Formats: sequence, C-alpha cells, structure tokens
Amino acid sequence: DKGNHRHFMEKEIYEQPEAISHALGHYIDFAERKVSAIAGSIDFANLSGLAISACGTAYLAGLTSKYWFERYARLPVEIDVASEFRYREVPLNANSAALFISQSGETADTLASLRYCRDAGLKIGAVVNVRESTIARESDAIFPILAGPEIGVASTKAFTCQLSVLAALAIGAGRQRGTISAELEQTLVGHLAEMPRIMSAVLNRIQPTIETLARDLSKCKDVLYLGRGTSYPLAMEGALKLKEISYIHAEGYAAGELKHGPIALIDENMPVIVIAPHDRFFEKTVSNMQEVAARGGRIIFITDEKGAAASDLPTMATIVLPDVDEAIQPMIFSLPIQLLAYHTAVFMGTDVDQPRNLAKSVTVE
Ligand code: M6R
Repeated sequence: DKGNHRHFMEKEIYEQPEAISHALGHYIDFAERKVSAIAGSIDFANLSGLAISACGTAYLAGLTSKYWFERYARLPVEIDVASEFRYREVPLNANSAALFISQSGETADTLASLRYCRDAGLKIGAVVNVRESTIARESDAIFPILAGPEIGVASTKAFTCQLSVLAALAIGAGRQRGTISAELEQTLVGHLAEMPRIMSAVLNRIQPTIETLARDLSKCKDVLYLGRGTSYPLAMEGALKLKEISYIHAEGYAAGELKHGPIALIDENMPVIVIAPHDRFFEKTVSNMQEVAARGGRIIFITDEKGAAASDLPTMATIVLPDVDEAIQPMIFSLPIQLLAYHTAVFMGTDVDQPRNLAKSVTVE
C-alpha cells in the first residue's frame, strides 16, 4: 500500500524518520545516551581489523562506515564490493572480523564473500533488513536495520537505516576499544537521537526547490557528483540513485580527484552536484567548486547554513540544510540526494519502483 504517495520509493523516502527512530531504539539507550546492545558475539575490543563487503547502495553505506570505524574506533577497515572481494584472494587475518551489509540478505556475491570469510575462520556479522535471510542465518551476529519492507528497487530507507546502525556500531566499538570517551559517546548518541526530528523538518521543507531543480536535471545527459570525507560515498550514492531510476548517466567522484580526470568533462551542459556541508573539508571542496565555476560548469550546491553563508560562488541552485554534527551529515544529506533522483525520474516518466533491467534482490552472480 502506497498510502497517499505516487510510488513506493516516495513513501519510503518519507518513512525514514520513523524507520530510523525504530532502528536506533534497538541499539541506543536514549536515557543514558549510550550505545546499548551490540549483541554479543563480535568482540570489537580485540580486533585487529574489520573486512566489509557488500553491493550497490549497501556497499556505499559500508564505505561511509569505514570513516566512522576508523575515526571513532581506530579500527582499520578493508572494504570492497562483494563481487571483487570474493575473488580477490584477500589474505585474512584470523584476528579480524567480517561484516556484510545487505538489505535483502540474499545477494549472491555478498553471500559468497561471507562464506569465504567464514571458511577463513573469521567472526561474521551481518547488517541486514530481512532477518530470516540466508546471510543472516549464516552469520554469528545479526545487526538488524529494522527498516520495514522496502519495495522500491532503489534503496532509500534501507540505506539510511544501514548508516544509522553502522554509526551506532562504530560508536559502540569505540567504547569497547577505549578510543572514545564516555563524554564523546554521549554527545554522538545525542546527535543520533535528534536525527529523526531533523529529517522530518528537512523533508517538509525541501521538496519545492528539489522539484524545480529536477525539471532542469531531467533535460541533462550527464551529471557529476562530488564530495569529500563521508560526502564522497554519498556522491556515489547520488549518482547511483539517479542512473538507476532516471537512466541519466551520472558519476560520483571524490572532489579531490576532479583534476585527475573528470575536470575534462566540465562544460555548460554538465551540471555538477557538489555535496559540501561546512565540515573539516569544506574549504577544500569549495576550491574544487571554484575550478568547476571557472570552466563554465553549472553547480548545484548542497550545503548547510554555514556553508551557504561562507561561499559566494554562482550556482545554478543551492539547497540549504540545517547545520548538523559531522556524524549525522550523511543521513541528513541523503534526503536531497534521494528526492532529486526521485523527482527527476518522475519528470522523465520512468517506472520509478521497477526500473528497467533491475531486480530488487540479485541472487545470481
Ligand atoms: O539486498 P542488498 O542490499 O544486498 O542489495 C544490494 C544492491 O543490489 C542494492 O543496494 C542496489 O544497488 C539498489 N538497487 C540500489 O538502489
């Protein structure tokens, strides 16, 4: 049932605040402001590393979590797409654990990677939506994302629930490893706790701007997304979402890679979507934006209030989100990314929930 939404995807985008509250309730003790249950069997304290593999959007959630596990838990993360990981002959250290992220829990390449790690004797954790899935069954520890059924082929609420659960895991791992203070844990958990409310406010506000922009985007052939830090995986997620449902060619790049190749593509016909909250990387990303502007590129600037105030570069459009802590930026900034892809596809008249050539669950190689 789509309720009063045109598509499941739209419904699932708007369900995110509630889905995330529900998911976080499982991992966080809101009264004590700490991570509560990272149920038993992965002992983060004594790990020497974490190997993560997944596909598509789940991979991009994993890539985002690498920044968190490394920053908050000082835990080295090795991450790859499962189709590469499974054949790469990765030398695994028995003192590391492996984490598999999958909405469906049935993705063939992810399952094969899991079995490879299990045969090597690693402890296996699964971040899944479907708890009865094969990946969940074959794991030592299940970390449910509790997003509820996701029908749209383009993953939206599963992505932000994966991010929220992974953020909680990274903070919990940091506590176990003694790499974050009790005070920092409380602060970070406080930010996670306020996230659903901020998301609702953003969802209520940005749609008109996004729709106007989507009309322009639907006329484009190619779109480039740029970001740094955790905005880099989000740039790739934005590009993936747009190409999946609107069939417009899109690429996501680390902003610092611009001058190593993609800058050659910049002209007045290719919009560049710059995801740049006012974080540690802001100045760097703005200088990349300058390079785009200097070559006549049209910029769609997705930033926060501080970021909007700090840049006076001409843009085709600026989407301004509230200032939030770095730890929750990827979830908040997912919203305009998802809505932009969604409304562009609606303008194009594609089959948003069942895009051509794609399946919700990829159970063959
Ligand atoms: O069920 P999974 O999370 O394992 O699926 C992985 C990918 O197939 C999936 O995320 C795909 O990339 C989505 N269609 C993205 O929107």
